[in-house]
Amino acid sequence: MKITTIYFSATYTTKRVVEAVAKYLANDVTTYDITNDSATDIVEIPADGVLVVGVPVYAGRVPSMAVERLRRFRGNNTPAVVVAVYGNRHYDDAVLELHDIVSECGFRTVAAGAFVAQHSIFPKVGTARPDSEDMADIERFASTTAELLANGFGDITLPGNRPYKEPGAIPIWPTASRRCTSCGACSRLCPTGAIDPAAPQGVDKSRCIKCGRCVAICPTKARRFYGIKYSLAAARFNTAFAPRRENEVWFARMK
Ligand SMILES: Cc1cc2nc3c(=O)[nH]c(=O)nc-3n(C[C@H](O)[C@H](O)[C@H](O)COP(=O)(O)O)c2cc1C
Repeated sequence: MKITTIYFSATYTTKRVVEAVAKYLANDVTTYDITNDSATDIVEIPADGVLVVGVPVYAGRVPSMAVERLRRFRGNNTPAVVVAVYGNRHYDDAVLELHDIVSECGFRTVAAGAFVAQHSIFPKVGTARPDSEDMADIERFASTTAELLANGFGDITLPGNRPYKEPGAIPIWPTASRRCTSCGACSRLCPTGAIDPAAPQGVDKSRCIKCGRCVAICPTKARRFYGIKYSLAAARFNTAFAPRRENEVWFARMK
């Protein structure tokens, strides 16, 4: 089986989940990391291949930047495994939306999963997930998917609503403390070019999507979400979404 993986993953948890699914399914894997991708050429994935596509959930939706970047991948009735990774609050309409996007691009969803990971804005929620229990869930998910791929599959029914929920604004931005050494790593790896390499302590608020990549990769841990608004939101969020949520999976009907 020839697998193509595509993921948008600012703080690398989606990447981990997608890679774990793909690794279980086959050794022959071609990867497209669309987090920092400016390519526009069309990539065709033939019917005898399998797509494993993953995005993080942002405000209950597929990140809009990922939507644009996903549309250059085309299937020819190619099976797709759809993965949404979320920070223990909820995935809302993101699984359905990702399925709709890949369906419009010529793929047929064989299986879908909503997997929990550490929250990239509020890391005290879902801390250190995916953990070993999650990895076992991912392996079971991939195993059932492999059976369906081998035996044939029909339609799939997924949770979520159309029209999708309107994403709310998130009025917080990451900036750097005095520990910043101006190394420029955040500027180079920011998916939206929101950090000026000449002044990497700040952020262009009009471009920042609060994805948390600069926080995740800062070698001196200088970059963080700061401020009273953030602290208040974090206190509420950490309490409201502390209980562990379990991963959820859905499969197409057997043929
Ligand atoms: C802007 C933004 C919005 C988010 N919205 C949600 C959400 O609606 N529900 C949720 O459970 N987690 C939410 N999260 C958390 C991420 O979905 C979660 O941390 C995910 O693992 C990040 O994936 P990544 O590590 O591949 O970047 C949000 C994170 C960000 C940055």
